[in-house]
Amino acid sequence: MKTLGYAVAGTGYFGAELARIINTLEGARVVAVLDPDNAETIARELNCDVETDLDALCARPDVDALIVATPNYLHKEPVLAAARNKKSVFCEKPIALKFEDCDEMVKACDENGVTFMAGHVMNFFKGVRTAKKLINEGRIGKVLYCHSARNGWEPPQPSVSWKKIRAKSGGHLYHHIHELDCIQFIMGPAKEVTMMGGNVAHEGEQFGDEDDLLLITLGFDNNTYAMVEYGSAFHWSEHYVLIQGTEGAIRLDMKDVGGTLRTKAGDEHFLIHETQEEDDERTYIYNHALEQDGAVMYGRPGRRPPTWLSSIMKNEMRYFDSVLRGAEVTQEFRPLLNGKAARAVIATADAATRSLNENRRVRVSEITGA
Ligand SMILES: NC(=O)c1ccc[n+]([C@@H]2O[C@H](COP(=O)([O-])OP(=O)(O)OC[C@H]3O[C@@H](n4cnc5c(N)ncnc54)[C@H](O)[C@@H]3O)[C@@H](O)[C@H]2O)c1
Repeated sequence: MKTLGYAVAGTGYFGAELARIINTLEGARVVAVLDPDNAETIARELNCDVETDLDALCARPDVDALIVATPNYLHKEPVLAAARNKKSVFCEKPIALKFEDCDEMVKACDENGVTFMAGHVMNFFKGVRTAKKLINEGRIGKVLYCHSARNGWEPPQPSVSWKKIRAKSGGHLYHHIHELDCIQFIMGPAKEVTMMGGNVAHEGEQFGDEDDLLLITLGFDNNTYAMVEYGSAFHWSEHYVLIQGTEGAIRLDMKDVGGTLRTKAGDEHFLIHETQEEDDERTYIYNHALEQDGAVMYGRPGRRPPTWLSSIMKNEMRYFDSVLRGAEVTQEFRPLLNGKAARAVIATADAATRSLNENRRVRVSEITGA
């Protein structure tokens, strides 16, 4: 088996773990990392080189692909550097904070003939795969409506992470783009959007400047709809995607973790993650407000993701590595592997942002020009 060489830009909470995972894959090895703050520490751990220049990193003959796990507002330059050096790239979500940047990244990868996979982890949840299968089998009839919430209450912070600064993370909507992407994965791209909300309870130095309460409604083709809530102004926290069909419904619960199919025949339960232990671990984390990913909890450099998340990251890296080795990409996953699904969901988020700013219903075509 040919050894594939990987480079990683951004080796904080997520990038370091992606790098560790790559080194566990057969025939894959991280050869160099780039990070202004902690590259040396991670390079020592992984026994690889440190680079300080993006083009030098991507031009290395032993680099076949770049993993981008920098803060959200710093994804574009590494992706463009990978593309111009004809290297495939895996980029963490959100791939960028506005449609025009996503478009430039997608076009650069396309023109250079490289794979551009987005880190939209929910596509790899076992529960999301099960939901897609149940929908395709017609178990809930035609999908009419999806409803998702990802919210919680944020207490004062001792220091404010870049994840809470709108210009760096995009705020809740962009930083937690997963649920919107999951809905578009199920329903296709939204056609029109409204968003209301704002920063209603988190002013001051111990908070970022992001909006803490966002209420989004989405219209799709064929008289189908969705609604999404995001934010950190919710003391009764929730985290789920509910899919309502003409014959039944599916609930993917990421807080009291588990999946449910509800039809006339009754309820059937299924896993969200790989094992019952992983589902239980995530439920425990939520119910004990541990510092892990969720609506208001975030990782940071030096921390390790929980097992359920690490498992998904393994699935993602295995999949990316297999595609680089020539595995066939199914029709369903093609938009995830060329950046177009990631671009489409940012177009929807941009339409929502314009709706909030201009206090009106916005067609997504106003953003994409299509
Ligand atoms: N898919 C998921 O569930 C998930 C979960 C967590 C984070 N993420 C994504 O991963 C990315 C990184 O998040 P994180 O939690 O690891 O953040 P983090 O703050 O822990 O790490 C970011 C790292 O990037 C480094 N960095 C800053 N500027 C850089 C630059 N110009 N070049 C290279 N490195 C630079 C920082 O020094 C830091 O080590 C983000 O895009 C985030 O949205 C995804």
